[in-house]
Amino acid sequence: MLWIKAFHIIFVVTWFAGLFYLPRLFVYHAQQPPNDTVALLKIMERRLMVMTHIGGGLAAFFGLWMLSLGWEAYLSQGWMHLKLVLVAMLAGYHFWCRQLTIAFARDDNRHSEKWYRLFNEIPSVILIAVVILVVVKPF
Ligand code: HEM
Repeated sequence: MLWIKAFHIIFVVTWFAGLFYLPRLFVYHAQQPPNDTVALLKIMERRLMVMTHIGGGLAAFFGLWMLSLGWEAYLSQGWMHLKLVLVAMLAGYHFWCRQLTIAFARDDNRHSEKWYRLFNEIPSVILIAVVILVVVKPF
């Protein structure tokens, strides 16, 4: 269980690295930089999205593995219910980033730089809430 938890945390960190940095790239991209910078940003966004898929997929794999080992105990705990709701929201954010990466690749961005700065705050709020839930287990 401790090995599984260690790998769960390693891939959660990888996942968040992507979810924090992708919207930063979107902020730069939305500033309408010169063409060569746009081409570089598209490559960076595509590669970072792949890394984020791997991190998210493996974090979920190891998390579900732990969940399967203590299924009954975990599902009777309120903090785990709320954690899973927040993780579902994080997965939604992840796929929203994927849609935005595709839109930028097609030169079809529809949001402002300021919008991306606000969008960038969402994973921080989820991270703080989930870490408090799993460590403090307040209910
Ligand atoms: C499909 C997604 C996920 C599932 C099924 C899952 C499930 C689990 C389970 C069953 C544990 C063991 C809890 C315990 O026995 O104390 C755990 C630990 C942990 N999870 Fe997740 N998790 C998921 C995603 C996440 C995410 C997105 C984060 C961070 C935002 C996260 C952060 C942690 C941390 C820090 C621990 C270690 C807690 C401790 O032992 O103190 N997990 N997870």
